[in-house]
Amino acid sequence: MLNIAVLGYGTVGSGIVEVLNTNQDSINKRAGKEINIKYVLDLREFKGDPIEDKIVHDYSIIANDPEVKIVVEVMGGVHPAYEFVKEALEKGKSVCTSNKELVAKHGAELLRISKEKNVNFLFEASVGGGIPIIRPLNQSLTADEIEEISGILNGTTNYILSKMTIEGSDYETVLKEAQVLGYAERNPAADVEGHDACRKIAILTSLAYGMQVDFEDIYTEGITNITDIDINYAKSIGANIKMLGTSKKKDGKVYAMVAPMLINDLNPLYTVNNVFNAIFVKGNVLGNVMFYGSGAGKLPTASAVVSDIVDAAKHGNTHIMTIWSSRKLELGDVNESKY
Ligand code: HSE
Repeated sequence: MLNIAVLGYGTVGSGIVEVLNTNQDSINKRAGKEINIKYVLDLREFKGDPIEDKIVHDYSIIANDPEVKIVVEVMGGVHPAYEFVKEALEKGKSVCTSNKELVAKHGAELLRISKEKNVNFLFEASVGGGIPIIRPLNQSLTADEIEEISGILNGTTNYILSKMTIEGSDYETVLKEAQVLGYAERNPAADVEGHDACRKIAILTSLAYGMQVDFEDIYTEGITNITDIDINYAKSIGANIKMLGTSKKKDGKVYAMVAPMLINDLNPLYTVNNVFNAIFVKGNVLGNVMFYGSGAGKLPTASAVVSDIVDAAKHGNTHIMTIWSSRKLELGDVNESKY
């Protein structure tokens, strides 16, 4: 039996419990062990919930229990997630997280610690919800020099823009819908102002080039200024507005940005609607590959986290992630390039 602890019993945390229960047999078979949730850390009690007797309020119970081999962090926010994750890794526990803010800010350090301790720090769910993109970049696209990563990286804003375009819905109403559906961040400003997509493109760029990309350096523009006038203008010229995150290597420099862009109907991203995300990766020998699927939501995100739990269980004390250096990657200025 392999004991794990889940930090946070919100949308994703409860999704993880559901996925582990629904696919228990196949998950345990693939992991090579029976996965057992020993603790769930949350401030709330969850009286009457099947996990009620697993709830703890004090993280030190988890950190100091040598039986807990994997800590699953789905609380969100940088603090106290960073302190909890760092302590878990230092104590020789693997960590699986969906927390893009944490990975974008402290990924280099947490990967280094995980390597030193021969455990794993895995974060498939931090980009693209249920879409496998971290694992392919880490394990599959390793023959290529990455020339470009670009795509729709935020489900909430794509949902809003699609509904405004296809159904003529009002911005505020669809944003509320996205919150109810569990797509939006706790503070949806992170979605609509582009910060969530910015952290995701920072993670993908760090992974692709092996150096720390500071998300504060990435030019970021969200969708809060998009009105019906813009949507109708786009339609009149046969285009859709999509908020894209992009990172391109040109003449030895990497340029990254997040912004709403006009996409015409010849571009495969034109038909990527609702909560779906799609990410292109261009390799110098491979050419383009596109990853497409549910970019947010309880079960798709939980599916990605559980795939990390399976990997961490399967690999035990073998470190599998390529680390990136904490040396900063200086980005080119998108305003001065022909980008
Ligand atoms: N709020 C995020 C989104 C969740 O809408 O894409 C998934 O990362």
